[in-house]
Amino acid sequence: MASIRKSAREARGAVGKMRVPRGLPVVRDREADGTAVLLVEDLKVYYHTAAGPVKAVDGVGFGLAAGERFGLVGESGSGKSTIALALMRLIRPPGQIEDGAVLLGDTNLLDLSEEQMRRMRLAEISLVAQGAMNSLNPVKRIKDQILLGLRDHGVRLSDAEAASHIADLLQRVGLKSGVAKMFPHELSGGMKQRVCIAIAISLQPKVIVADEPTSALDVVVQWQVIDTLKRVQEELGAAVILIGHDMGLMAQAVDRLGVMYAGKLVEVVATRELFGEPLHPYTQLLIASLPSLEGKSDLRGIPGLPPSLLHRPAGCPFHTRCPFVMNQCRVEEPTLIEHRPGHWAACHLYGSEVSA
Ligand SMILES: Nc1ncnc2c1ncn2[C@@H]1O[C@H](COP(=O)(O)OP(=O)(O)O)[C@@H](O)[C@H]1O
Ligand code: SF4
Ligand SMILES: [Mg+2]
Repeated sequence: MASIRKSAREARGAVGKMRVPRGLPVVRDREADGTAVLLVEDLKVYYHTAAGPVKAVDGVGFGLAAGERFGLVGESGSGKSTIALALMRLIRPPGQIEDGAVLLGDTNLLDLSEEQMRRMRLAEISLVAQGAMNSLNPVKRIKDQILLGLRDHGVRLSDAEAASHIADLLQRVGLKSGVAKMFPHELSGGMKQRVCIAIAISLQPKVIVADEPTSALDVVVQWQVIDTLKRVQEELGAAVILIGHDMGLMAQAVDRLGVMYAGKLVEVVATRELFGEPLHPYTQLLIASLPSLEGKSDLRGIPGLPPSLLHRPAGCPFHTRCPFVMNQCRVEEPTLIEHRPGHWAACHLYGSEVSA
């Protein structure tokens, strides 16, 4: 695998780490020097519809430490998949990246040509897209689907090398080498999702983005897929952005969580602190709506609907549903501020001064 990695890398030049500018929520305790492998700054992605621009992602920024597992949670429609696609430069019309930067080492992915970006995908940053397991090509054997990505990056392998690389990848994700010759319809949902993970790690990227990789799988298989993702990520030393809406699953899967609401990050903090002491009222409601530990169904849900992304209301995007709404919230939008070390929230309840 190492030599394959090298040949794909030579075409692009190395990608290093960078210092994190102040004001971006990046993990502190892992890397004392505050470096990150990926930095997203003020990302804005709009879908230009006949009714006007849908502001799906409206000024999102975060940093990702090497080897970190970062989760993005939020209700459906909050912009999670749009972020994933924007990081990969896979936003299609009517969608458009309006502003911001996606820094991988010294490279701003948003500045690259299509061809340069094509070479970054899989080799530096890869995506297990939402619903990817249902998008496997039904008439191609698994080995051919894996090889396609490698060829796309100029990786040329003899038949023997290809067979050995594919067997290694399948074994890494917990599949037998015989799966290589099979077609997608011969595999269970969990196996297909493992194949998608194998494709995503086939060129040992530094960052893996996995968008709801366990939705549509039953609970036991969900945990198995998460365990597989964690294992391969640790083996590779890659950082992961895991997108999901199941807070319980995310609590076990990631080091740090970012809570999305209406196209914005409203809270970012280490997972344990998020569950122990959530600051943002939306996060508090999300956690309160989880089934209780005793397994009793206590799913309260959050009353009301998220605001229209087409006609954003003034002030805090959560003010129409917030139990603590104040006059200020209806007119002034709160910014994401580090209220405690490593704990960021966008809410007027905590003032606008950095107290850390
Ligand atoms: N192709 C599109 N055209 C118009 N609006 C879109 C398109 N794709 C997504 N959106 C809108 O962007 C918002 C964010 O969507 P998405 O990123 O898929 O959210 P999530 O993954 O959190 O469910 C939603 O309001 C959605 O309706
Ligand atoms: S800013 Fe105001 S409306 Fe928004 S979450 Fe905080 S208290 Fe609620
Ligand atoms: Mg989505």
